[in-house]
Amino acid sequence: MCNLPSSAVPVPRVTVTGTGYLGATHAICMAVMGFEVLGADVDRNKIDMLCAGRVPFFEPGLPEKLHEALASNRLRFTTDFDEVAQFGDVHFLCVGTPQAAASGAADLRYVEAAFSSLAARISRKALLVGKSTVPIGTAARLTRMVRDISPVGPELELAWNPEFLREGFAVRDTLYPDRLVFGVESAWAEAQLRTVFAPILSTGTPLIVADLSTAELVKVAANSFLATKISFINAMAEVCEATGADVTLLAQALSLDDRIGRRFLKPGLGFGGGCLPKDIRAFRHRAEELGVGQAVSFLGEVDSINNRRRVRTVDLIRELAGGTLTGVRVAALGAAFKPNSDDVRDAPALDVARLLYLEGAVVTVYDPQANANAHRLYPDLNYAASMEEAVARADVVALLTEWEEFRHADPDYLAGFVHQRLIVDGRHALNASDYTAKGWEYRALGRPYQARTVVVLEDARDGATGTPA
Ligand code: UDX
Repeated sequence: MCNLPSSAVPVPRVTVTGTGYLGATHAICMAVMGFEVLGADVDRNKIDMLCAGRVPFFEPGLPEKLHEALASNRLRFTTDFDEVAQFGDVHFLCVGTPQAAASGAADLRYVEAAFSSLAARISRKALLVGKSTVPIGTAARLTRMVRDISPVGPELELAWNPEFLREGFAVRDTLYPDRLVFGVESAWAEAQLRTVFAPILSTGTPLIVADLSTAELVKVAANSFLATKISFINAMAEVCEATGADVTLLAQALSLDDRIGRRFLKPGLGFGGGCLPKDIRAFRHRAEELGVGQAVSFLGEVDSINNRRRVRTVDLIRELAGGTLTGVRVAALGAAFKPNSDDVRDAPALDVARLLYLEGAVVTVYDPQANANAHRLYPDLNYAASMEEAVARADVVALLTEWEEFRHADPDYLAGFVHQRLIVDGRHALNASDYTAKGWEYRALGRPYQARTVVVLEDARDGATGTPA
């Protein structure tokens, strides 16, 4: 994809501030599409790595795109914000909005710092484009702030362009998104955005042009809907646990109704990561501030159902171990919040490992990519360099993140390492019948003891989820 527009609007030069998952991917993809791009961050280390052609996090396919972009000479990185202000016509801001320490609110200090630092430096007509996930009303407030600070006043415009990329699919989601959303306040801002997204729009990608608030709301509403869908099926798993019904059969039956659909209906340990959990909490917080807390109070339940999955998984492991976890050797397979990622932010897998450890289990964690990040967070857990090392002499094996390596492991092969053939499948990702046939006791939340294999919810767009090996 590399066809720049031949429109009346001159091709803008692009800057991207914040080089995390979102910003680094955006900067790299913009350069691959043919734009001149300057990426910026306050973190010298990240910038040095990117300049040297190394992506500072694990994201399949992104290193190749970085090399392609650097080789084109259209992509550079800097920590100098005077240079950023000088260089760009359209400035994307992709800094983080973590959860505030004392509440569910979003911490906007990085967003405010990034916008004000650019606004103070930009001395010609330009567009600032927020991509971070922010509480509704933030863009309008930032517009006022930026105009007050800017030497060019209202000539510096602001737009919001929410981003829906998923970790593990960042390149694909950036180059071939399901839709684009522009929150704009002027025809000029819309024209600028149409120009920088022309290569994507030219492939027929749907575009919604909206006001700033709607653009902000689209993102939090989308993440809330996805989180609700996951918690719905996990709530049904709780009902299954009380009744002996099988949640994987239930999910299969539900997903065959086109109106419900099969995606994000996969039961198990629930959602984690840097977006879904914090976004639903921040949305609730903001809705309270706006006086419409009741409208989204169900998100509190969505959060609770999700957190209960972690505790219930520990219960299941304890039950399988014979009623106590003290001194029980547990192999925790997976630490990342989902496969194909090294991200351990609010990771259900790592939370389960921590809870097991607090109850006296001897926990050995292995994740194909996230061991280093997990170790930084929980140095007291044991970490293994391979799946084999993790399961060696284990009393219970717990599959917590459904990496391909775990889904396709041979139960006979694993049996050669373990102390006891006891396995908890926290992600409904294993072939239950195969494990049972090979002498394992297999348990999964929301499924009866004699669970048989149910093929559900396969969707290539969601990656390594669904079909048991
Ligand atoms: C999410 C949104 O999907 C994306 O559009 C937004 O831009 C950022 O937040 P991401 O955090 O990368 O993306 O993860 P996602 O693939 O959505 O998965 C979120 C969590 O839900 C993972 O922990 C995953 O394991 C879990 N999940 C997903 C389920 O438990 N069941 C499912 O059926 C699907």
